[in-house]
Amino acid sequence: MIAPQEVRTGNNPFSTYFHGMDRFIDAAVEQFAHDHTEAETDLYVRLREETYRTMDRPQMQVGLLEGRFLKMLVRLTGARNILEIGMFTGYSALMMSEALPENGHVTTCEINPKAEAIARKYFAESPHGNKITIRMGRALETIKTLSGPFDLVFIDADKPNYCNYYEAAFPLVRPGGLIVGDNVLWSGKVLDPKDDDTRAIVAFDQLVQDDPRVENVCLTVRDGMMLAWKRK
Ligand SMILES: C[S@@+](CC[C@H](N)C(=O)[O-])C[C@H]1O[C@@H](n2cnc3c(N)ncnc32)[C@H](O)[C@@H]1O
Repeated sequence: MIAPQEVRTGNNPFSTYFHGMDRFIDAAVEQFAHDHTEAETDLYVRLREETYRTMDRPQMQVGLLEGRFLKMLVRLTGARNILEIGMFTGYSALMMSEALPENGHVTTCEINPKAEAIARKYFAESPHGNKITIRMGRALETIKTLSGPFDLVFIDADKPNYCNYYEAAFPLVRPGGLIVGDNVLWSGKVLDPKDDDTRAIVAFDQLVQDDPRVENVCLTVRDGMMLAWKRK
C-alpha cells in the first residue's frame, strides 16, 4: 500500500484527490483507474483548482472517477430528472447534467453561499449549466417543497442527515428510479465507528440494506457509493 503522500505529486491533478482524505483503496491502483478514465475537460480542471485553492475541505468534491461514474449512471438509466443533495462547488451536478437530454434537469441543494458562487460561475460557462437549478437552504426544508418524480437522487450532504434525506426523498423517486449515497464507507471508518458522522453513515448503510423497497449494492468506488434501486 502506497501512503497518500507518496503518490505522484507536482503537476499530477490526481494528487489533490488524496489531500485530506484517508484512502482505503490502493493508491497506485486508483491512480491507474484514474489514468484509464476519460479525462477532465479544462472547465473541470479549473473548477477543481479553484475549489482546492479557495474552499475548506475541498476533498469533498467527488472528482474525476466518481464524477464520470455518476455521469455514466445518468446515461445508463436514461435519467431526465435528478435531485442532488449537497452541491458544494458543483462538480457532480455539472457532470450529471452533461448526460441529460436537452430537456433534462438537475435540482441541487446547497447551504454554503461561497460554494454556490463558485458553482454558479462554472455552470454559467457550461452549455449544460442551464439544466441545473440551485436551491439554497437546508436540504430537508427544500425537499419538502419538491414534487418529483425523480429518476435519480444523489445524497452527498451532511452525514448525520443521510437517513433523513433517504426517507424524505424516497417518495419522490419514481418506481424503477435510483438513489445513490456517497461516502458510505467513510475512509473505512465504518468498520469501527467512533464518531457521530461514522455512526450516521453506518446507520444509513444498514437502513438501505434492510429496506425491502429497494435492491442495493455497496460499491468501493472512491469513498464508497451505495446504489439503491427502487422496486417497481
Ligand atoms: C460532500 S459536499 C458535496 C460535494 C459535491 N457533490 C461535489 O461533487 O462537489 C457536501 C455539501 O453539502 C452541503 N450541506 C451540508 N449540510 C447541508 C444542508 N443541511 N442542506 C444543504 N446542503 C448542505 C455542504 O455545504 C457541502 O457543500
